[in-house]
Amino acid sequence: MNKVKEIIEKARMENRAYLLESEAKTIIREYGIPVTRFEVARTVDEAVEYAEKIGYPVVLKIISPDVIHKSDVGGVMINLKDENEVKKAYEDIINNVRKHKSDARIIGVLVQEYAPEPIAEVIVGMTKDPQFGPAIMFGLGGIFVEVFKDVSFRIAPLTEYDAREMITEIKSYPILTGIRGRKPVDINELVNIILKVSKLVTKHPEIDQLDLNPIFAYDKGALTVDARIILSLSS
Ligand SMILES: Nc1ncnc2c1ncn2[C@@H]1O[C@H](COP(=O)(O)OP(=O)(O)O)[C@@H](O)[C@H]1O
Ligand SMILES: [Mg+2]
Repeated sequence: MNKVKEIIEKARMENRAYLLESEAKTIIREYGIPVTRFEVARTVDEAVEYAEKIGYPVVLKIISPDVIHKSDVGGVMINLKDENEVKKAYEDIINNVRKHKSDARIIGVLVQEYAPEPIAEVIVGMTKDPQFGPAIMFGLGGIFVEVFKDVSFRIAPLTEYDAREMITEIKSYPILTGIRGRKPVDINELVNIILKVSKLVTKHPEIDQLDLNPIFAYDKGALTVDARIILSLSS
């Protein structure tokens, strides 16, 4: 787990509370949470090289400590199928970000595996309750969380029983078990992810907030497509 400490220490040294997506994904991957494969490209040529290494289609995303919501500034391009699309997306992303936020520090572009269409999108999060400590959240992505606030919470550390209950108690649970001829999602993998988030935030109290949003859930396995971690810079 040394990599995790290293990333956290480096960010704190630089007085950065928001970790880059590449940093957040490296941390959760160290804890065994499934993430899309990725590489950090600093030039357009590197982006093409990594796209070829990862395999098409790929996704390109801005890496900047000044951009928290990447798609809001045109910083995410998905389903890129060949070298030309990668080159164009690279330039477009840099231009879009410059247009929205001219002073944004641009570290590079994250090249990642394109995650196929899931059965469902889910979210696993953590916020600190001032009284009880880290509270883990689970919910379905999109309108289920934003409109219906259909989420469940438990205080970490969690048992497997807690994690399973968090999943089954949301109102939209039937979507995960397969309705209208759809396949059920891999509930065990979601339990696994929730437990690993619990372990990570328990071991690292420097983590103030965590947001895996979305996680793509499949009939076999799941993939974390976007990850945000915010550190507390005090203490
Ligand atoms: N690797 C990927 N594979 C497939 N779709 C992706 C991938 N990365 C992002 N997306 C899609 O693009 C959306 C926005 O990307 P995300 O990384 O979540 O950016 P934001 O910072 O705007 O939240 C995601 O919600 C998802 O639908
Ligand atoms: Mg996101």
